[in-house]
Amino acid sequence: MGKAGQQPARLQLLDEKKEIPATEAARTGRGRRLFLFAGVAAGLIVVALALGLGLGLGLKHHHRGSPAATSSPSPTPSPSPTNSTASESLQSWRRDTAEYNLSMDWDINAAPTTRVFNLTVSEIQAAPDGVMRTMLVFNNQFPGPLIRVNQGDRVLVNVTNQLTNATAVHWHGLYQNGTNWMDGTSGITQCPIPAGTSFLYNFTVENQFGTYWYHSHHSTQYTDGLVAPFIVHSPEEAAVQKDYDYDQIILLQDWYHDLSTALLPDYFASGNENAEPVPDNGLIQGTNVFDCSSYGDDSGYDCQNNSTQATFAITQGKRYRLRLINVGAFGEFQFSVDNHTLSVIEADSTLVEPVTINRLPINIAQRYSVILTANQTATNYWIRSWMNTYCFSDDNAPILNPDVKALLTYTNTTNEPTESADWASALDIVCEDLVTATLVPSGITPAPSADVAYKIDVAFQIGAYALDKAYINSTTWVPETIPTLNQAVAGLHTLNNSFSTSGLSTAFDQTSQFVIDVPNYQVVDLLINSLDEGAHPFHLHGHQFWVMASDSTGDFDWSTYKDLNTTNPMRRDTLTIDAYGWALIRFKADNPGMWAFHCHISWHMEAGLLMQFQTRDDIMKDWTIPEDVLGLCNG
Ligand code: C2O
Repeated sequence: MGKAGQQPARLQLLDEKKEIPATEAARTGRGRRLFLFAGVAAGLIVVALALGLGLGLGLKHHHRGSPAATSSPSPTPSPSPTNSTASESLQSWRRDTAEYNLSMDWDINAAPTTRVFNLTVSEIQAAPDGVMRTMLVFNNQFPGPLIRVNQGDRVLVNVTNQLTNATAVHWHGLYQNGTNWMDGTSGITQCPIPAGTSFLYNFTVENQFGTYWYHSHHSTQYTDGLVAPFIVHSPEEAAVQKDYDYDQIILLQDWYHDLSTALLPDYFASGNENAEPVPDNGLIQGTNVFDCSSYGDDSGYDCQNNSTQATFAITQGKRYRLRLINVGAFGEFQFSVDNHTLSVIEADSTLVEPVTINRLPINIAQRYSVILTANQTATNYWIRSWMNTYCFSDDNAPILNPDVKALLTYTNTTNEPTESADWASALDIVCEDLVTATLVPSGITPAPSADVAYKIDVAFQIGAYALDKAYINSTTWVPETIPTLNQAVAGLHTLNNSFSTSGLSTAFDQTSQFVIDVPNYQVVDLLINSLDEGAHPFHLHGHQFWVMASDSTGDFDWSTYKDLNTTNPMRRDTLTIDAYGWALIRFKADNPGMWAFHCHISWHMEAGLLMQFQTRDDIMKDWTIPEDVLGLCNG
């Protein structure tokens, strides 16, 4: 390995011949779809007829008139309490999120133990914001149950799938070092858990602590409600614990009134120019109000004005750690609390030097901890989670009210705030992260120099079947029937050389699997170059990466490579690549397995915006994937 700041030993610009030209036309305006095949128009009609994709039935119609749930049975309202408030009596499908208020009595120094959790995945009818819909949930309630462990604990999660479809559960941000097959990534690290069966996830949480979450990693399922927090404590947390008196998880998410599977056909329809389904609402702690009058009587939705905003009660003089997790599908939020500044202390499980802000941008799958001090007049204030509609192709007005709110109360009341003042600072109209340079990890970890660098291009194109698909170079991901992990381990066993060649793997079908093979330990630089007009929150499984450089314009200038800050760059697992922007990230390919790197926007992953790293073949070649994991493929 060279000295810090030198050129990487090898710079591989993958697949350059097939790279999509970043023409000026491609970089301007919305009309930037790149047609791969000439006969698209003719092909489109044939495919539309064949698949019955219902072209022309846009989302608007869907919302304003035509009966909604095309694929789901008409919802039956659950008996709702008429004479009690939500705080007195919860609807049976609504989780009591008191468990998200983390008891400070938890022993962060406890000896490692085994913790067992049971998760049932099922379909229910529920109305988080008053609009009844079909949802997919853990343990019959929404949002999902907290998993709380200590670093060093063994975690057993028995997942029982009561859906009519297969599922898989991913632990977002956990390294899974040595247990790649427990990563829960359908088509990559496992076959999904068949309907009507159970699977035991069994892994140890090592060398990490902080705020994580778990969610379905099968198609767009998590968008329908399969989300929950996963908290890891550690003795090392003592240093920050002294800065707060209470520890509170807050889930933020965008929300749709239809099943994600009902929204996909319109999204993929070829005339659609990658116009993602725009959320109908936003939730804080799994709840919000919705104005039913924005739906006509014939909307097909069962809408009751009976839901409430979340309420957080605080005590004057106390300090609150708020662990914010964006568990949504598409929308970035700007989180703020009226009259209260926020001190950021954690981003994606990396503790950072405190930085005081008024508004915090938080993109899909990212986590931030902020400390709020109850030092204002003891009354009620708004917590705001403003959904950044500038990230959307359409504002979905008047249905979507992007000013998603919850109540902060010093008086334990639900009175409308009267003295609450939103910050004067303007809302950000671009979808981008908190400037990376403002985040300085409090545990100093220099970035080692890179051994190899790869560059990928990210774009949307109308593909071979006239579907609107996402591409990494010229690959659009489609999950394999046999997980790529199973294929790689089998290939390495038989000494099939195509499974252990460094660089872009030829062992897989490159039209659907973009796999970079890093056979032995190396430090990898990945330059992600976006040719798309939208921002993309990219997530790397199994690792944290250093954010070496990024910008919202132009291309990375390799002549600056030797000057990159390697002293203590920010480390995280989910980073927004700005519209037409780029980012250079670095990670140690020291964790054996198949690791997804993908845009976490539900719609984009489903559109194929996913690649994989195959790392440490030297270890993988000796692996035996457990029988129960392999058995999932026989279901
Ligand atoms: Cu939150 Cu690929 O995952």
